[in-house]
Amino acid sequence: MDRRRFIQASSLTGGALLLSGPGTAPPAAARGTAALPPVDDPLYREPIADPTAIPRFTDPLPRPSRVDALGGGDLTFVMGPARQDLLGGGLGLTTPVWGFGVRGRHGGGPASGSPAQVSYPGPTLVAHRDRPVRVHWINGLPHRHLLPVDTTVHWAFAGTGHTIERDGVPAVVHLHGGHTDPDSDGHPDAWYAPGGAVGPRFAGTRLSYDNSQEAATLWYHDHTLGITRLNVYAGLAGFYLLRDSHELSLIEDHRLPGGPYELELVIQDRMFHPDGRLAYPDVPADSPDWPGGPSVRPEFFGQVILVNGKAWPYLDVEPRQYRLRLLNGSNSRFYRLSAGGGWPFPATLVGTDLGFLHRPRPLDGPLVVAPGERADLVVDFRGLGGETHTLTNDAPTPFPYGDPVAPPADQVMRFRVNRPRDERVPEPRLPRRLRRAPFRISRPPARTRRLLLSEGTDEFGRMKPLLGTVERGRLEWSEPVTEDPGLHTAEIWEVFNATPDTHPIHLHLVRFQVLDRAPFTADRDPETGALSNIEIGLPQQPDATELGPKDTVSAPPWRVTRIKALFDRRGLYVWHCHILEHEDHEMMRNFRVR
Ligand code: C2O
Ligand code: CU
Ligand code: CU
Repeated sequence: MDRRRFIQASSLTGGALLLSGPGTAPPAAARGTAALPPVDDPLYREPIADPTAIPRFTDPLPRPSRVDALGGGDLTFVMGPARQDLLGGGLGLTTPVWGFGVRGRHGGGPASGSPAQVSYPGPTLVAHRDRPVRVHWINGLPHRHLLPVDTTVHWAFAGTGHTIERDGVPAVVHLHGGHTDPDSDGHPDAWYAPGGAVGPRFAGTRLSYDNSQEAATLWYHDHTLGITRLNVYAGLAGFYLLRDSHELSLIEDHRLPGGPYELELVIQDRMFHPDGRLAYPDVPADSPDWPGGPSVRPEFFGQVILVNGKAWPYLDVEPRQYRLRLLNGSNSRFYRLSAGGGWPFPATLVGTDLGFLHRPRPLDGPLVVAPGERADLVVDFRGLGGETHTLTNDAPTPFPYGDPVAPPADQVMRFRVNRPRDERVPEPRLPRRLRRAPFRISRPPARTRRLLLSEGTDEFGRMKPLLGTVERGRLEWSEPVTEDPGLHTAEIWEVFNATPDTHPIHLHLVRFQVLDRAPFTADRDPETGALSNIEIGLPQQPDATELGPKDTVSAPPWRVTRIKALFDRRGLYVWHCHILEHEDHEMMRNFRVR
């Protein structure tokens, strides 16, 4: 879109969608291939596909392939390009994506040179507690990004002289939720490009996961400084299901659904161009509102909802219980999930980010899942043969006080209870208790920190979300570490959110307990954002769905959210907002365990 049309479109629609007139046929149509109806949106330079024209519930839910690493050992995963049918519906459109493929097994094995079948999402790695896995993550990404790169933010190649054209796309994989050694944690500065360029904290391409933690839904994804939002959007994410003997015996004893009745589901929102290519906002360089060319956004919300890399899929189920390992893998979108407002099929939460709840928790309302969070859910279709239920979402954007969700993003996927029940498989009976006692970090805290979420402005006048401390105010990524817990000490982190939006705060390395939340008022230093004269109101207990081990927590606006963690590995890690547009635009800080 040229500048004149951009201004026209923005003034006509005030940011809403506008159907293109006859004179604005998109380049895709000119190529003579199948194409979706184009729509102009002032955030995108090229027309985007009308999201309401994409068929829903026409394609089955894809199941990521699983890689059995229960015995531990060495694996090779290659990051590379692929084309996939994300939109389905018989449209005949394929989408260039990036994904992961497994190359051979066990490093030097005979198959180690075989080409990897790359997929988005990546294969699900299934590992076992205390059986170390080492993954050689090969960066086979191209020398051109699938999406517009904003070179004005502090990103991997900033100030290095490297370019994507010459060096290829930088990447580094982080195992989210992993109790990982710092050198294997995928620090944002540990990136490496296919051409050999590496980041200042590069620690090799073979990363070790000792799996020294209980069974949980982990996931792996790119974590490169300043382009994580783009690399993950292009497809660089997958599941890592960590088992332990307790979980395996629950499955074996028919206390939890297993085998084909356990599914991992990653929910992500995307936008597309009419020819099927992924679209990501790309405001022109001369835009008066967002200078600097392809520009980082305050957030990204797509209107096409994908589950496991397929738009609005369906799943045919038997009238029995299923275990759903849900992950919100979206850049910015929160989901408030239910089936039309309630649960016509009973849904019971059995686990949070990093392990089981003490007791199964039947849901009596919608389930909020923030970016980066996981929910381990058992849904029960018994007695519902012949019925069809749609998983819906009514989370405003931004969360929680933004616009109401507009169709079609209010739908996620569909369950069709139309398969005969396999009588050979016993129906699981959920145990009364999934862990011996409620999850708690029992060690007395060595100290309490007061941390800050605040909005600043960058040199282009764009809103820049930042972390910081209550006393010092906003701090940039590059400023010296302020959080430096001692080894094997517990700390309470009080996260004061002085912004109008909820931020999902994620700490690497640790699993934490959500203690409580309380409203607060404070005076704000206009320069630094530092808070003083803080008055804290009555604390509220965490939601019943947050009582298990967590690594990501919603910090709502004008609340102080208190968490407690035990820091039990030495080294440099990061904590950040898991809204990827925020993380890429400085809402991330190092912390060091001394
Ligand atoms: Cu899911 Cu620091 O990341
Ligand atoms: Cu993480
Ligand atoms: Cu944020």
